[in-house]
This record gives sequence, structure tokens and C-alpha cells, in this order.
Amino acid sequence: MPNLSLMILGASGDLTKRLLMPSLFRLHKLGLIPKLNIIGYSIDKWDRDAFLKHIHDALQQFIPGFNEADWASFSPHLDFISGELSAKDLQQAQEKLSPSALFYLALPPTLFGQAAQAIGDAGLAEQTDNNWRRILIEKPFGTDLASAEVLRTQVHTHWDESQVYRIDHFLGKEATQNLMIFRFANRVLAPVWNAEHIEQVQISYAETLGVENRAVYYDRSGAMRDMLQNHLMQLLTLTAIEPLGRWDGEILRDHKVEVLKSIRPTENMQVDTWAVRGQYCAGQIDGNSVADYCNEPGIPIDTNTETFAALRLEIDNWRWKGVPFYLRSGKRLANNYAEIAVQFRAPAGALPGDISVENNWLVFRLSPEMGMDMHMTAKLPGMNLQTHDIVLSAPYTQPGQYEVSAYEQLLIDALNGDRAHFLRFDEVEWAWRIIDPALKAWEQGMPDLYKAGSEGPESQDRIMRSGHHWRSLLG
Ligand code: BG6
Repeated sequence: MPNLSLMILGASGDLTKRLLMPSLFRLHKLGLIPKLNIIGYSIDKWDRDAFLKHIHDALQQFIPGFNEADWASFSPHLDFISGELSAKDLQQAQEKLSPSALFYLALPPTLFGQAAQAIGDAGLAEQTDNNWRRILIEKPFGTDLASAEVLRTQVHTHWDESQVYRIDHFLGKEATQNLMIFRFANRVLAPVWNAEHIEQVQISYAETLGVENRAVYYDRSGAMRDMLQNHLMQLLTLTAIEPLGRWDGEILRDHKVEVLKSIRPTENMQVDTWAVRGQYCAGQIDGNSVADYCNEPGIPIDTNTETFAALRLEIDNWRWKGVPFYLRSGKRLANNYAEIAVQFRAPAGALPGDISVENNWLVFRLSPEMGMDMHMTAKLPGMNLQTHDIVLSAPYTQPGQYEVSAYEQLLIDALNGDRAHFLRFDEVEWAWRIIDPALKAWEQGMPDLYKAGSEGPESQDRIMRSGHHWRSLLG
């Protein structure tokens, strides 16, 4: 790897200390970024020593087994600049940057456009034949289709689409990348991965956490923008995409956009038939009482922001026509549990007597532990021909295997110029097209309440097809 620079704008923020720096520290320890100089940039009037102390303390907190020898090897790669998001201040970076550099916007979303422009105005976006400049933008990319298009124009004042890396950290997760491999590498799945054999798909991402210290961001965003428009929609596209003819990041992204374009347009559909929103009220999480969402610090008492959202989407292409894709995510639910569950249709064929058969489920567990479960029906041992459900279960990692964190994976990809697992603008655009009608409708009225610690609002069943039920979040 030649000399490279990573400049993090928003270097005193939460994302930098909780996720970016621990990932960079681990990558350094693995010897994967030996020549990377990391420049923190922030409005705080810190000097390099203050920044180093801040990062040292954060790593102590977030890296299990942190030790001073590793820090002594890592810290010489860190530098700091204090400044505003203006071209004049950003020019200070000129002399510290290597010819090739990645700018990471770890900033509040409202500052993305301003930052992208200011970096460009400072002349830092210019590439030569041998050296690149890239910009990495966190989610959410806009708050609806119209604002995403405005942001795109702002970003493109100085940056070409090929320089823009829109991150969705779910695409760096092991479980997400495994979804593609598992689907395409196992011949046994290929012939049955379609509407003829699949009954329904459920993608659930449940958290016990509330809004923590992100009240301002979260109350503007809500579950739909925070989780469904990006992360869950990405999981849907990867479950549904066509196999690639050639392994190529652009073809992968083309195929994902094809899926999004095949989702039945929602603009003329009655919102209540395909979308549900909820908001948590006081309850118990792990034996502790927690407050109503509207009584959380920093949340307006009359807020109508949803902390739970569920959707039923239909993909009208030959592979999926007739198979509902159910998506849901929420805060303060009964469990930290996430899965992609694919239910197969009932087999045709006679079984003796009144034997009941549960349709098979193939479940990709994402959290708390990653793994794969195939739920099948087998004979119940004994004299009679009776059945019971069994689960063929495999953990994702074996002892001793290294599980890469999403940010480690995506930072390396961005430094290597691999855009396969970053969002192209049309992916963002089509995801907004699908959910915008619900967001518009939800500007009025109130979400349905659900008790903290429960499985979400009862009204979530409203969008299920007859005979379908949400799977339990208790795992
Ligand atoms: C983030 C959301 O993008 O993803 C959070 O803003 C959510 O609200 C988080 O908690 C979930 O991701 P992970 O990787 O922590 O499971």
C-alpha cells in the first residue's frame, strides 16, 4: 500500500471514537494499513496531544485487551487539525495530505453537502492520473427523494460519482456478505430460490436500545429513515437479486437497482395496507423500567416520530411475483434480535393421517450471534408415524476464525477503491421512491403505541397476508 491519507471530518464525534478509531486500530494491528496517516479534523480547538488523549481514552474503552505497546505503534499515524467547514480552514490540510486521500464525513447529516463543497472549494478533491481523492458519506443520504437529489447536486459540484462512497455499514457486515455467498455458492438453493418454492420473506431488526444520546437526530429521522430506507432495503435487495454473470461491483449494484425498480410502486397504494408505524411507551427492558419515547431527554412531548416501522413490499418480477417481503425494525423491543427468514411453500404430497407439516424456514441470524438455521420436519422417534420440527443449525464462525467488523471491511474497501459494497445514487433514489409515500402520510396523525419490552404494536399484523404471522423476536 503506498502512502495514503484518511481525513476524518467530525473527529471529536461519537462515530469516530466508537466505531472508526477502534476499526482503524485493529486494521493497523493486523498490518493492513501500514502507511496510512489519519488526520482528525474538528471544530474543537484541540491540539494534536488533546486529540491523541481523546482517542487513547476511547480505545481503552472500546478495545477489549487494549495495550500500550499497540498504542505506541498506532499513535504516530495520528494527526489533528482544528477548523471549520470552510475552504479557507480546510486548506490547512493541504500540506499534511498524501497525494491520494480519502475524506470521511463523520458529521451530522445536515452538514454533508456543506462539507463536500468546502473540501472541493479548498482544491482537495482534484485527482491526477496517479493519485486519487475520494469522499465517504455516512447515511442518511437525504431525508426524502427531493432532499437526496439536492444533496447529490451539492456533492457533485466537485466530486464525480466514481469518487463518492456512500456507506451503509450493513453492507460491510459478515452476515450480509454471507447472504450473497450462501445463496450463490450452494447449488441446492438455486433452483428453489423463487416464487414457485418460496412463500414469504421476513426481515426483522429488533433492538432493546432506545434513542440513547441521539435524540435530536433520531426524532428527525425515525425508524423508517434510520433503518428501513437503507439497511433493511439493502438486505431485501441482496435476498432478491439475480445471480451475477460476472463478479463485478458495478454489475452487483445494477442488479440491486433492478430489484428496487421491480418493487410494486407504493404511491397509489393505501399506506395502511403496506406500512405500519409504532412508538414505544413506558415498559420494562431486562427488568429495568424505561420511559415513554416522548419523555426521553431531548424528545418533544408531542412527537409523532415512529420508533418502529414495518412494511410489506411486493417484487413484481418473474422470480418473486406473489411473494411478500416483510420488513420491520424498532427500538425498545423485547430482544436484540435480527434475522432474514425465508419460508418455503408446503410440499405437495401425501403424508399419513393427520400429520401436520410446518413449512420449512431458512433463517440467517444476524444478531445477537450470527448463524444459519434450517427448520425442517422429521419423524418423531417412537412407534407412531408422527413428526416434530428440528433445526439444522450452524454458527457462522468456528473457534479461532477472525470476524471482521463492518467498518474494518468498508474502510479497507474504500482505501482500495472497491465500491461494490457502497451505495450508488440510484440505489438511494429508488429506496426513497418506495418509502416516501409512507413518510408523507405519516407527517399527520400518531403512531400506534407499543409497550417497551414487547414485540411491537399489535397493528403490525395488519399488513400480513392471510395465513402469515410475524416470527417471534425472542429467537
Ligand atoms: C445505525 C442506526 O445505522 O444502525 C442505529 O442509526 C442502529 O439506530 C444501528 O442502532 C444498528 O446497527 P448495528 O450494527 O449496531 O446493529
